[in-house]
Amino acid sequence: MTRRILVTSALPNANGSIHLGHLLEHIQTDIWVRFQRLRGHAVTYVCADDTHGTATMLKAEQEGVPAEQLIERIRLEHASDFRGFLVEHDNYYSTHSPENKALAELIFTRLKDRGLIFTRAVEQLYDPAREMFLADRFVKGNCPRCGTADQYGDNCEACGATYDATELGAPRSLISGATPVLRASDHYFFDLPQYADFLRAWLGSGTVQPEVANKLNEWLDAGLKPWDISRDAPYFGFLIPGTTDKYFYVWLDAPIGYMASFRNYLAEHAAPGANDTGFDDYWAPGADAEVHHFIGKDIVNFHALFWPAMLDGAGFRTPTRIHTHGFITVDGTKMSKSRGTFINAGTYLKHLRPEYLRYYFAAKLNGTIDDIDINLEDFVARVNADLVGKIVNIASRCAGFITRQFDGRLADALPDPELRARCVAAADAIAERYERGDTARAVREITALADLANQYIAEQAPWTLARDPARSADVQAVCTQGLELFRILMIYLKPILPAMAEASEAFLAVAPFTWRDLDTPLTEHRINPFKPLVARMDMADVEQLLADSRTEAGVSNAAETPAEAVASSAAEAAGQQPAAPATPTISIDDFLKVELRVAAIVAAETVDGADRLLRLTLDLGDSRRQVFAGIRSAYQPDQLVGRMTVVVANLAPRKMKFGVSEGMVLAAGPGGEEIFLLAPDPGARPGMIVR
Ligand code: MSP
Ligand code: ZN
Repeated sequence: MTRRILVTSALPNANGSIHLGHLLEHIQTDIWVRFQRLRGHAVTYVCADDTHGTATMLKAEQEGVPAEQLIERIRLEHASDFRGFLVEHDNYYSTHSPENKALAELIFTRLKDRGLIFTRAVEQLYDPAREMFLADRFVKGNCPRCGTADQYGDNCEACGATYDATELGAPRSLISGATPVLRASDHYFFDLPQYADFLRAWLGSGTVQPEVANKLNEWLDAGLKPWDISRDAPYFGFLIPGTTDKYFYVWLDAPIGYMASFRNYLAEHAAPGANDTGFDDYWAPGADAEVHHFIGKDIVNFHALFWPAMLDGAGFRTPTRIHTHGFITVDGTKMSKSRGTFINAGTYLKHLRPEYLRYYFAAKLNGTIDDIDINLEDFVARVNADLVGKIVNIASRCAGFITRQFDGRLADALPDPELRARCVAAADAIAERYERGDTARAVREITALADLANQYIAEQAPWTLARDPARSADVQAVCTQGLELFRILMIYLKPILPAMAEASEAFLAVAPFTWRDLDTPLTEHRINPFKPLVARMDMADVEQLLADSRTEAGVSNAAETPAEAVASSAAEAAGQQPAAPATPTISIDDFLKVELRVAAIVAAETVDGADRLLRLTLDLGDSRRQVFAGIRSAYQPDQLVGRMTVVVANLAPRKMKFGVSEGMVLAAGPGGEEIFLLAPDPGARPGMIVR
C-alpha cells in the first residue's frame, strides 16, 4: 500500500545562518524522506524560514532595509545551503506569507469561537525610550538571588536562579540602555489546561519517543498553564484579527507555517499519489495521509503540547509522529565560535563534500534524543574506512576486469547466489531501522555486509585468476558477483548518499535504484567504465575548515555592535540558543585570581592521535609542568624548545585523553598558521609572576 506522507523539519530562524545543528536535522529528515520514496511511498517534504519576532524587526532596522527584504535574502541563502547538502525540500517557503496569515487567522478564530482564547492584563518591563515591551533577553540587571550584575531577564548565569525580569535589580534595556518601567497591557491566551487529558492520551499513543513522552508527562503532572500567544506593537508579525496593536507571538504562527508551505506547494503541484489532491486529504480530522515533524529536543513542548492542542481545537488532524533528536556537540563540547567548531553550512561546503557529513550523521543518529558528538578525528577515520575502504573498494576492485577483459559485460549468472541472498535477506531489518530513525544501526548492518563482500573478493582474488587465461570465465563471474553485492549496498545507502548512488547508477548503467531492485540480480548486462565515486577525506581540509570558521566568527564578532548582538540573540524564539553575550567586564579582584607566570619551554613534542596538540614541558623556576597546547598548526616542536612564554599557573589540572594538562599557555590569533605564542621581554626569568 502506498502511504501518503507529509514531512517537515523545524523552520530555521530567519536571523542567522544554517549551521551544523540545522544540518543534523535536515539531513536526518531528508534521509527518512528519501528512504520512504525509495520504498515507493508518496512523500511531500516542506519547510520554510521562521521569520517573525522582535529579533527580525531589530535586525532589519539596523541594516536599514525593510524586514521583508531581509527575510527574503536569508530565505534564499538558507534554501541554497540545504541544496548544497543534497537536502531535497519540495518547498522552502516563508512564515511571512499570505497562506500563513490566512491559516493563522483561521485557527485563531476557530479557537476563539470554541472558547479556548481569553485575554488578561500582563505587567511587563517596558522601554520608555524605545516605546516597546521588553522580552527577557532584551533586559539585563542584577540577579535577584546572588546579586551578580549583567544577568538576562530570565535566569542567572552565575548561580543558575530562574526568575521574572521584573525581579532584576537595576534593570536596563539592551535596546536603548534606558531604565525600563513596569507597564500593563492585555494579552491573548490559549487555554491549554483544557487540553490536559487530550494531551496525556495523545502522548501515550506512540506519537513521540518514549523518553519525550516521559518528559512531557512530567509537565502535565506539574499542571499546564495558559499560553500567552500575543505580543504588543511594535513587532514583526501578523496582526491579531480585530486588533490594531496586538500581534501573534512568533511561536503561534511558526508551526502553522508547515501547513502554509504545504498549501503553497499544492497551489502549483498535485500532491503525489493522491486522487483528490486537496489540502484536506492531509489536514482534515481522520485524514489517512500521515504528517511527520522532525525537530530538536529544545522545541518539543511547542510541537507535542501546544501544536496538537491548537490543531485539534481548530478542527484539524494532529501529527502522526514527532521525531525528536538531540543536540550537536563537537569533540565533546558545545559548538564554539572561538574553537572554530561553530560551523556554518556555507563554510563547510568550501572545504568538504556534503556526503561525508550525511554519512557521519547517519552513522551517529539512533532515533533517540541523545546528543550527537562529532569527533573530528573519528569523522575522518570513519568516512575513509567505511565509504572509501569498504563500500567503494568493492566496485573499484571488480570494475576494471569487467571493462578491460569483457568489454563491460557482466556474467550471465552469479557464482554465489547464497551470498547474494544473505545480503538481500537483511533488507527488512534495514528498512525497519530507517523507519525508526536508527540509521546508526542500519549503517552498521550495511557495513557488515560490505565486510562479507570484501572478504569474498579477497578469497576469490580475481587478480590472481586473471593471470590464467583458462579461468577467464571465473574472473567475469567473481567480478559480476562483487558488483552485484556493491549494487545491493548502494541501494541500501541511497537515502544517505544520493549523489554516490546516482553515480553508481550511471556506472552500472541502470535506472534510478528502487528498493524493488533488490529482487533481481544484475547479470547479462553491460556496464560503463568505473570512475572514482568518492575521494578520501583529508584531516588537513578539516583543519582548514576549523580555521576558516574561527576567522569568520572573529570577524563577525568584531563587527558586532552591542545592538547587533542583541538582535542575533533572537530573544523571542524560546528554546533557542542565545548568541554568546559580549565579554562582560570583570573586577580587579576577578583578575587577581588568575596567576600568570613566566615559563621556559624545556621540551615540546607531538601527540599521537591529536593533530592539533603539542605536549609542552614547562619550567616554572621551582617546578615543572606538562601542558597540552593547541598550537601544532603554527609551530614545529623544535621551534619552541628554549623559548619563554606565559602560562596560567593556577588553572585546575585537566585530564585529557593523552594525559593531564597542568596549565595553559597564552597565545593570540585566529588559528591555523596564525597562532602567536606570547613571550616576555628578555630578562624575565621562569617563575616570575606576570602583572
Ligand atoms: N524557529 C524555531 C522552530 C520553529 S518550528 C515551527 C527554531 N529555530 S532554530 O533555528 O533555532 O532551530 C531550528 C531547529 O534546529 C530546531 O529543531 C533546533 O532544535 C535545531 N537545532 C538548532 N541548534 C542545534 C544544535 N546545536 N544541535 C542540533 N539541533 C539544533 O527553533
Ligand atoms: Zn545569581
